[in-house]
Amino acid sequence: MGDDSNSRPAYRRVLLKLSGEALAGDQGFGINPGVIQDIARGVAAAYEAGVEMGIVIGGGNIVRGVAAASSGMDRASADYMGMLGTCINALAMQDALEKVNVYTRVQSAIEMAEIAEPYIRRKAIRHLEKKRVVIFAAGTGNPYFTTDTAAALRAMEIDAEVIMKATKVDGVYDKDPKKHADAVKFDELTYLEVLSKRLAVMDSTAISLCMDNSLPIITFNMKDSGNILRAVKGEKIGTLVR
Ligand code: GTP
Repeated sequence: MGDDSNSRPAYRRVLLKLSGEALAGDQGFGINPGVIQDIARGVAAAYEAGVEMGIVIGGGNIVRGVAAASSGMDRASADYMGMLGTCINALAMQDALEKVNVYTRVQSAIEMAEIAEPYIRRKAIRHLEKKRVVIFAAGTGNPYFTTDTAAALRAMEIDAEVIMKATKVDGVYDKDPKKHADAVKFDELTYLEVLSKRLAVMDSTAISLCMDNSLPIITFNMKDSGNILRAVKGEKIGTLVR
C-alpha cells in the first residue's frame, strides 16, 4: 500500500465524517492535541491530492446527547449540548487544518454569527469549488438526529460521491472484535445487510438516507491518518457499504 502515492484521487468530492470520541485519544475526554494534529495532516494529504472535502465531526468527546438523556436529562436539551460540542470540535479542527496550510471555512447549522458562518448550501459548494475544506458544525441543527445523519444529509446537499466514515475501528465486523477473537471483518456490505443485521456502521436514519440516494459509505480506522488519503485514492480499506 502507498506505492501509488502519485496517483490521482478516485473521487472529486467527498464528505469525511470524523468521530468526536476519537479526537479524545487515550485521555477519553476533550481534544488530544497530538491526535487532532495527526488527523489534520491526514486531511491535508487528501486535500493536496486535489479532492474537495466537506467534514462533519461528532461531539461525543465533549457531550454525548444519548448518554445525558439516559441519565435523566431532557433528550432535546442533551442533543443541543451535543451540537455545541461539535462546534468546539469544528473550531479545533479548523485551527489544526490552518496550521498545516489547508484553507477552511466553518459553517454552523445553529446560528452563531460571531464564531462561524451560517450553513448556506450554495455558499458551501462555492467554498469547495474554491478549494476550501468546509467543516459543517452543529449537526443538522435538530435534536434526535445524529451527526451520522448530518453527514449523510450534507453529503447529499454538496453532491459528494461518497461518505468516508473515520472511526476507532478498522471496518465493520460480524461481532465485536474486542470481545470475540473469531470476529470477521466485512469488506463490503449492502445497506439492507447493515440494517437487517443491525451492524454499527451508522444509525438507521443515516443508512436509510444513504440507501435512498445511492450514496456509498466507506468506514475505516482513523488511528492511521494515512487512511484518509488511501480512501480518497480508492484503495480498498475498511468496509464499503453500497
Ligand atoms: P468568497 O467571497 O467566496 O471568496 O468567500 P470568503 O469566505 O472568503 O468571503 P467572506 O467575505 O464571506 O468571508 C471572509 C471570512 O469571514 C471567512 O473566513 C469566513 O469564514 C468569515 N465569515 C463569513 N461570514 C461569516 C459569518 O457570518 N460569521 C463568521 N463568524 N464569520 C464569517
